[in-house]
Amino acid sequence: MNRRRIGLTDLWVSPVAMGCWPIAGITSIDVTEAHSLATIQAALDSGINFFDTAYCYGHHGESEQMVGRVLRPHRNEVVIATKCGIGWGPDLKQLKDARPATIRRQCDESLQRLGIDVIDLYYLHAPDPATPIADSAGALRELLDAGKVRAVGVSNFTKIEQYEAFHAVCPISADQPHYNMLQREIETEQLPWCEKHNVSVMVYWPLMKGFLAGKLPRDHVWDPKDGRQKYPVFQGDQWTKTHDFLDKLRPIAARHHRSLAELVTAWTIQRPGITVALCGAKRPDQIQESAAAMSLTLTPQDLADIDQAIRERGEVQSRAAVT
Ligand SMILES: NC(=O)c1ccc[n+]([C@@H]2O[C@H](COP(=O)([O-])OP(=O)(O)OC[C@H]3O[C@@H](n4cnc5c(N)ncnc54)[C@H](OP(=O)(O)O)[C@@H]3O)[C@@H](O)[C@H]2O)c1
Repeated sequence: MNRRRIGLTDLWVSPVAMGCWPIAGITSIDVTEAHSLATIQAALDSGINFFDTAYCYGHHGESEQMVGRVLRPHRNEVVIATKCGIGWGPDLKQLKDARPATIRRQCDESLQRLGIDVIDLYYLHAPDPATPIADSAGALRELLDAGKVRAVGVSNFTKIEQYEAFHAVCPISADQPHYNMLQREIETEQLPWCEKHNVSVMVYWPLMKGFLAGKLPRDHVWDPKDGRQKYPVFQGDQWTKTHDFLDKLRPIAARHHRSLAELVTAWTIQRPGITVALCGAKRPDQIQESAAAMSLTLTPQDLADIDQAIRERGEVQSRAAVT
């Protein structure tokens, strides 16, 4: 089985992980508990051993609870990552709070929800502008030293100084930025920094929230509860240009008798410097399709054709989300 190492730890993970945000049902529509539990099981059955959740995935920890329910009997076969530093305010607005006391409390709650005694990989979900990074890092370092977490990661860092400040206090084993064929700004500074410091890179939005799976028709009518329509890339000119781009990728996927989602995910995990693609899913067929990308090897001709399509499309103006 193809496994990749997390930093310098003894944790080895599949290059495709299941992203457990959609099953929280906050921005995704038509999510049911039965589908969500079946999706986690399908991921496991498809060769995925790495699961990405967070304290704030669900207003009351629903994602962590479901992950724990399905994976507890398989504890020794899986690597569970969760995150701290973002919660929900009384008005159900996301709240960044990475003060040490909050991190300690959220860690204990996450362990309880997951029903496990140690978190394999624990991320600071995002820097908290009101708390010095060194203070948040100090709290994570204590959890590492106390054996409550096996490894520490960071997410949504945008400046090298943030990485340096954190790493000086607590060793970073993994980074979690967004990245996909059209949103590649981490290639300039963040990927080289991670490579130099033996930090694994677990990327979110590999399918650009489902757009690059190619199943949203040009005349798609959004459900008002679908959170994606607020992003500029799902609107106007950007929408049309991305559909034109997908039409150029389709023949490349067809050469391998594979789907667009498989092509896009395979490209992501074959990029230099990328360790894992975190593929969100809310139904078994979606995660099975993402997992199938692990058996697709792209040829130099495929990569050249994809590069050309990306160049013609041009980069998307990013707005990092925190979910
Ligand atoms: N650290 C952070 O701040 C942060 C931020 C975002 C995400 N993440 C992590 O990264 C993971 C991935 O991000 P994401 O879930 O937002 O986006 P994503 O993986 O780019 O897209 C997931 C969405 O794509 C659609 N999809 C997935 N497989 C598909 C398939 N085979 N065919 C058609 N559609 C498919 C589904 O949406 P529909 O079925 O609704 O169309 C699914 O909810 C998250 O689950 C989470 O674990 C972390």
